[in-house]
This record gives sequence, C-alpha cells and structure tokens, in this order.
Amino acid sequence: MVEIRVPATSANVGCGFDSLGLALNLYTYFTFEEIESGFELVGFDEKFNDENNLVYKTFLYTLDKLGKRVSGVRIEIDSNVPVSRGLGSSSTCIVGGIYGAYVLCGLPLDRDEIFNLASEIEGHPDNVSPAIYGSLTASCVCDDGTSATLTYDIDPRFKFLALVPNFETSTEEARAIMPVSYSREDALYSSTRIGLILKAFENYDLDILKRVMGDKIHEPYRKKIIYEYDEVKEICEKVDSISFLISGSGSTLLNIYENLDSAEIIREKLSKLENDWQVLELQIDKEGTVIL
Ligand code: HSE
Repeated sequence: MVEIRVPATSANVGCGFDSLGLALNLYTYFTFEEIESGFELVGFDEKFNDENNLVYKTFLYTLDKLGKRVSGVRIEIDSNVPVSRGLGSSSTCIVGGIYGAYVLCGLPLDRDEIFNLASEIEGHPDNVSPAIYGSLTASCVCDDGTSATLTYDIDPRFKFLALVPNFETSTEEARAIMPVSYSREDALYSSTRIGLILKAFENYDLDILKRVMGDKIHEPYRKKIIYEYDEVKEICEKVDSISFLISGSGSTLLNIYENLDSAEIIREKLSKLENDWQVLELQIDKEGTVIL
C-alpha cells in the first residue's frame, strides 16, 4: 500500500497563460493498494465512483504505457482541493493516478517522464508541472510535441488568498470564450513581462510584481463568466493586494497579499456579497508530489 500527496495548483500566473503555475499547500491524498481483482474506489463523490473515474483511468492508461499489469486496485482519496474551481483538482487526480501506477509496479519515479505523460493527458502543462515539482514552474509544449518545464524559486514570504466561490466554471467553456487570435500589442504585453515575473517572485520584489502582473490573454474575457469578479477585486484592492488574478480557468480568484491581518478583513467583506466565497489562506508548496 502506498500513500501519495499531491498539491493544489494555480495556473495562468500573471501573463503566463498555459505556462506559469504555482503549487499551494492544499492537498489531495491518494492511497493505492493492489487487490486480488477488479477495482474499488473509496472516498470519491458518488458521481466519480465508476470506471470513468479520472484517477483510475489514468492509473490504467499509465500501466498500459509502461507495459505493466496489476491484478486489481483499491484507490482511496482524501481531498481538500475544491473540484472544478481552478485549483488543479483534475491535475491532482492525473498526477496521483500516474504515481500510483509507478509505485505499485515498483518503478523508479522519473519526474520528467511523469510530467510528460501528465501533460499529454491533461492537454496543457501548467497545472501538472507545479503539482509534480512544487514551487513556481514555467512550462510549454515544444515543437516536437513533448512538454518542457523548469522550476523557479519563490520567496516563502508570499501569501495567497484563494477565494473559492460556491459556483463552478468549466475549463472547456472558459477556453471557448477566449479569442482565437491576438493583436501584436497584446502578445508583446505578455512576452515582455514574463521574465520579470519570475525574478520578482524569487526576490520578493513587490514593487515590480504590482506593476507587471497584468494579463491580456484570458482575464478580460473570462472575468465575465465569474460572478462578482469586479466586486471581489475591488474589495481585495482596497484592503491589501499585490496582485489579483483568476486561478486557472476559475472560478477561484487568487489574491496575493502582504499583511496577515488582511485575510480576516477580506473574509468579512466578502461575506456580505451575494455568493458564498470561501477564503483559504495559503502558502507556496515547495515539494510537489511526495510519497508519504
Ligand atoms: N491554462 C489552463 C486554462 C488551466 O486556463 O485553460 C486550466 O486550469
């Protein structure tokens, strides 16, 4: 039996759409155990409790890729990561399923190999990368179809407020509402900022971050499908905000802030809005996926 811990992630950091992702100290725990036959799923929501379960399907897919077999498997989940809220819950399932297959087969954990497989299954690398490696990662799909990723150091003083609403967004819908092409001005807006963001996270350079964390690729389009986006942003900016962004494809909004006391003030103000906004005080996770 093996227990695996996978962190939640926040993708699309700043102008790094489909590239920059952060690992956060909010976790999904998976236990894998080989059984005599078939499969057992424990702890999953009713609607995920069948052979289409993402962890199970990924587990089988990985075994197939590796040319391995197990007699049967029992998979248990214990998750603190909200589902369909832009905090990488599906990535935790994909990464968990791949790790489960590797470990039950006694194979060495090659993180680069696991990352490429996870990126292929997820379809974009910016959640699976920080989920595997931890910290802040930059990733892309290369010309030859493989995925590449690098991990960047991030100052431990950074504080993140994940503002999780009581409604979901679908990544499919959130991708469909984005334009198919962009102006040169918008493309340059992103490409000129990305290097500064990486160093500013490493150096806790709040002044630079405040000035360069904008985005013109997804946020202007997706904010329309996140109820109360403007109200939540205004509250955060009035109280304490170094940067305010949509986490992944939403619906969670992420506020990077400076003073510990601000979290309670923001929570209090959000409680007066129409929707329920859960406020999670988080920090960076530097370990990525670990076998416990
Ligand atoms: N980069 C992806 C998107 C992340 O925004 O569509 C999805 O969580």
